[in-house]
Amino acid sequence: MQENLVKNDEIIVTIERLGSNGEGIASFNGKIIFVPFALTGEKVKVHIIKDKKNYYIAKVVEFYSQSPNRVSAPCPYFQKCGGCNIQHLNYSNQLELKKNIVKNSLEKFAKLSLNVNEVVASDKQYRYRNKLAFPVQFQDDKLKIGMFREFSHTIIEIDDCLLQSEKVKTILHSFKEYMIENNISAYNETTNLGDIKHIILRENDNAFLLTVVVSNEDFNNFQPLINKLKKNFSEFGIIKNVNKLNNNVILGNKNIHIYGTQELKYNEFGITYYVNNQSFLQVNNYIKTEIYKKIIELVGDCELVIDAYSGTGLLSSILAKHSKQVIGIEIIKEATKNANELKKINNLTNLTNINGDCALVLPELAKKISCDFVVVIDPPRKGIDKIVLDALINSKPQKIIYLSCNPDTLARDLSILKQEYHIDYVQPYDMFPQTANIETLVCMTKL
Ligand SMILES: C[S@@+](CC[C@H](N)C(=O)[O-])C[C@H]1O[C@@H](n2cnc3c(N)ncnc32)[C@H](O)[C@@H]1O
Repeated sequence: MQENLVKNDEIIVTIERLGSNGEGIASFNGKIIFVPFALTGEKVKVHIIKDKKNYYIAKVVEFYSQSPNRVSAPCPYFQKCGGCNIQHLNYSNQLELKKNIVKNSLEKFAKLSLNVNEVVASDKQYRYRNKLAFPVQFQDDKLKIGMFREFSHTIIEIDDCLLQSEKVKTILHSFKEYMIENNISAYNETTNLGDIKHIILRENDNAFLLTVVVSNEDFNNFQPLINKLKKNFSEFGIIKNVNKLNNNVILGNKNIHIYGTQELKYNEFGITYYVNNQSFLQVNNYIKTEIYKKIIELVGDCELVIDAYSGTGLLSSILAKHSKQVIGIEIIKEATKNANELKKINNLTNLTNINGDCALVLPELAKKISCDFVVVIDPPRKGIDKIVLDALINSKPQKIIYLSCNPDTLARDLSILKQEYHIDYVQPYDMFPQTANIETLVCMTKL
């Protein structure tokens, strides 16, 4: 029997399980084969496309059997666009997959065998996102607006995205027409020339904000776009964002208001808040609300809540409406400024927003606190920095409520926190249906 496979080999395998990106996993002589878009139990012929030291990557060329959990993906760009990776899996199995991903990460990286609750489902399985970015580029001698192919900068042209509201179709269509009719140049990554690089659509129920990312600050030909959009929409805003750099960061630092509304207004939990084109906001409104409700319940009736990594202060403000005293800590100056505006609009006299690094602010605060307190922490994907984790443990909160968008870094952080805290509650939420991403809420109490 053959010992090893090499690129372009084809073999028949049965998928044993799904991996943390929702991809099928088979094996050959003890070496793993990742097979995207194949499901557990399926017998498939695969073509090896990458032969790495510890694993292979392969694509399905023929199905001999198909899983009863397989559904037909509704999006015509599925498997080409890098946005969704599990549209072919029925929704209840998507939820089961996500629960297992959280369980496996906790076992693998934290050696924790915990009861993980059933995943809270999204109210919408499609058209749930309130924000999406679309690259605009000149590729293969033509204008392309769409989504990047996975792990590449090749644009797959799209005229709709099933993750965002129906509005996206008209907006993409109008934007493309506007560029063609007015001879507007799209960015070319190779030459670093061309005016428009990205468009970002952010929306609430009534209005939308369209951010047009330009590489050339002098570009100002927006009137034809405004006229076009006005034919279909009454409430919208256009912001020009200037990003001259040729890198993977979408937004530059400079925003110039071009037309209409500058911010989207929301009202929730008794808080009025405004979201501009740069504010952090959880992308799935229903799940965001479910998570914040649960956090309020878990915080309960305590004297003081510290919202570490507080961003533009939405969660701190909601907590302030429901708790006695709240302190938010955020490292970015502009975000703290926004958090203070939110505090002012909502007249939250029991909220203090501190601008600084949790690693430095938390230990100083802890020295002055004489009551029991709870820390709510909502870090970015990379998790909590080690220096902040040490500061958190040394400040000895009675309870820690950790909201994470990355099960691996959550597990890494829990492997340290578990030495001082009992993990009471692990609740995954389906913030991102049709993708393998998961949001998880964990509550722990001091041992
Ligand atoms: C996921 S966002 C938090 C959003 C916020 N909880 C909300 O509901 O709007 C993470 C935030 O952590 C901040 N951050 C990252 N490292 C930090 C640190 N060492 N100290 C304080 N804030 C930090 C980031 O600037 C970012 O605003």
